[in-house]
Amino acid sequence: MVKDMDLLLEKAATLTEALPWIKATLGKTVVIKYGGAAMTDPALRESVADDIALMKFVGINPVIVHGGGPAITDLMERLNMKVEFFDGLRVTDDAAMEVVKMVLVGKVNKELVSSINMHGRLAVGVSGDDGNLIRARAVSERLGRVGEVTAIDTTVLDNLIEDGFIPVVATVGAGEDGGSFNINADLVAGEIAVALGAEKVIFLTDVDGLYDDFDDKSSLISALTLSQAEDLISGDTLSKGMIPKIGACAIALRAGVGRAHILNGTVPHSLLLEVYTDAGVGTMIVADPAGAADAADPAAADASSPADTGGTA
Ligand SMILES: Nc1ncnc2c1ncn2[C@@H]1O[C@H](COP(=O)(O)OP(=O)(O)OP(=O)(O)O)[C@@H](O)[C@H]1O
Ligand SMILES: [Mg+2]
Repeated sequence: MVKDMDLLLEKAATLTEALPWIKATLGKTVVIKYGGAAMTDPALRESVADDIALMKFVGINPVIVHGGGPAITDLMERLNMKVEFFDGLRVTDDAAMEVVKMVLVGKVNKELVSSINMHGRLAVGVSGDDGNLIRARAVSERLGRVGEVTAIDTTVLDNLIEDGFIPVVATVGAGEDGGSFNINADLVAGEIAVALGAEKVIFLTDVDGLYDDFDDKSSLISALTLSQAEDLISGDTLSKGMIPKIGACAIALRAGVGRAHILNGTVPHSLLLEVYTDAGVGTMIVADPAGAADAADPAAADASSPADTGGTA
């Protein structure tokens, strides 16, 4: 009996620990980039969808931007299509673009929307074509229909948020030529965070965060400044998917988004732990303090206090 009471008190303590965080984030927009790599297990996807629904019910405006690389590769292989990457980007000819659009917009987006909507009428899926949300142009001839963002029009997102919905964005961009472009979801998340004036941008991926040396699992970095993160790119410490993530952090943090987090989306409830507890999980990246880039100490932007979220509490 006493033991049960201890357990219940522990649960109550968890809830009260969340209170200042709930206050600080009330009404704030948080952009969550959900990586395809962390999305492949349906049970995990449900768990992330639960967390997103909970965030919405306690007052955050989550906006989801998703990837879907593994699902695209899977269908291309089943169709006996050539899967080719160049500098970490998928070479996307017209036929591949057709598959990218079908998988991202028709399958991955709708699965995520359905998972969130297990909790009620919450999520609406959109792609870059909808309301001209994402305009894009080709990155290079070599990559075909791989695009870069030229403009974001948040009208459709503003309206969905205003009406109480969670927008779920598939990162297919609308080209001036009437065709579609395949755009890296990290970069879109950064751009959308800026356009919405988001409080923070969170990257849910399949590793615990940013490693100083990816082969040394004891080298996880819990907090760093943007210039320190960019030094890791120039020092060849980062490869593949982490390079666009840091690029997206740069876009967001330089334009005034409060902070960026890289979390492991395959660890149950990493989102809730980051947003509603004092525990620092994953990697937090903050902007360089003005005029002090070299001497920047990310610990100065301590994440273990809600007052530091730039919130209103
Ligand atoms: N220094 C590093 N620290 C952490 N991860 C790294 C590092 N360097 C490279 N990586 C790689 O980055 C990967 C994450 O990026 P990746 O693009 O594969 O996933 P994602 O962006 O979450 O998913 P998607 O691209 O489908 O949206 C990790 O699985 C890891 O292999
Ligand atoms: Mg990626």
